[in-house]
Amino acid sequence: MVSKKSFTGSVVISGASSGIGEACAIYLDKLGYQVFAGVRSDADGEALKCKTSERLTPIFLDVTNEVSIIAAANRIKATLDSTGLTGLVNNAGIVIAGPLEFLPVADLREQFEINVIGQIAVTQAFLPLLRESQGRIINMSSDNGKVSIPFLGSYCASKFALEALTDALRIELQPWGIAVCIIEPGSVTTPIWKKSISKADNIWNNLPPEARSLYSVFVDSAHKKANELSNNGFPAEVVAKAVAHALTTKRPKIRYVVGLDAKINIWLAKILPDWILDKLIAHYLGIAKNS
Ligand SMILES: NC(=O)c1ccc[n+]([C@@H]2O[C@H](COP(=O)([O-])OP(=O)(O)OC[C@H]3O[C@@H](n4cnc5c(N)ncnc54)[C@H](OP(=O)(O)O)[C@@H]3O)[C@@H](O)[C@H]2O)c1
Repeated sequence: MVSKKSFTGSVVISGASSGIGEACAIYLDKLGYQVFAGVRSDADGEALKCKTSERLTPIFLDVTNEVSIIAAANRIKATLDSTGLTGLVNNAGIVIAGPLEFLPVADLREQFEINVIGQIAVTQAFLPLLRESQGRIINMSSDNGKVSIPFLGSYCASKFALEALTDALRIELQPWGIAVCIIEPGSVTTPIWKKSISKADNIWNNLPPEARSLYSVFVDSAHKKANELSNNGFPAEVVAKAVAHALTTKRPKIRYVVGLDAKINIWLAKILPDWILDKLIAHYLGIAKNS
């Protein structure tokens, strides 16, 4: 539980235009933080400001663009003077879906540019400010950072990579008392589902006929599951509360598994032999062996 007292630190959140990032921005603003909300358009910044206090400052931040990252860090440094930064929430992310046999490599690269490389680039830029105040880093992973599933291999790989980077970073930053936490939510109701389904449709429609004849039955079935899950997620505010806990508590947890679905999925992946887990996932997604 996060106490109701007011907090006075400052936090940068990437990908605050919608979903979990937006929920974090609103929640942390309510707790009293000075929130620097990473957005990629003025309209998104204005829309967010309408839902928060005057304190919240939208900041242009494209995690794949070095110039934008450095400009954001410099602007925030100038605003904070010498007080340092209390927290960095690396939340921005996208989902690329499709069968790995045919997934265009450019899409795989985009997935990693945003979900992996971008997170470290932003972290590097803000670490000097975090060091000044023993701030904390909170990385947004997923239960898919622990359990990989078909047709989401690209996304899952990006979150597995983020997990590995976070584990290393956490120990590297111990000498300075900079805590590094990772959040592993299950299915959350946010615009990411609609965006990823439309992106997946676009990729699918441009694949060669061979890909369709081999995979269409399975992809249709996975598509239906994604639609089901998107309608049964939990609210983004639940994740924002976990982020707030990681920022405010004296001893933050290393890992925050958020949602019953994530708890079950990660637990099953830990205890089951791989071949049983494979069968379970294939059955769940309606992928039967062809023979
Ligand atoms: N929703 C879930 O079920 C779920 C579950 C587990 C983990 N997560 C993770 O939670 C994080 C947030 O996802 P969400 O569900 O809240 O999705 P969302 O509503 O689609 O939000 C994604 C955010 O990332 C931003 N973004 C995308 N590309 C960017 C870039 N190059 N630079 C900076 N920002 C960029 C988007 O900004 P624009 O609006 O400008 O595109 C948006 O603000 C992601 O890392 C996701 O993997 C989500």
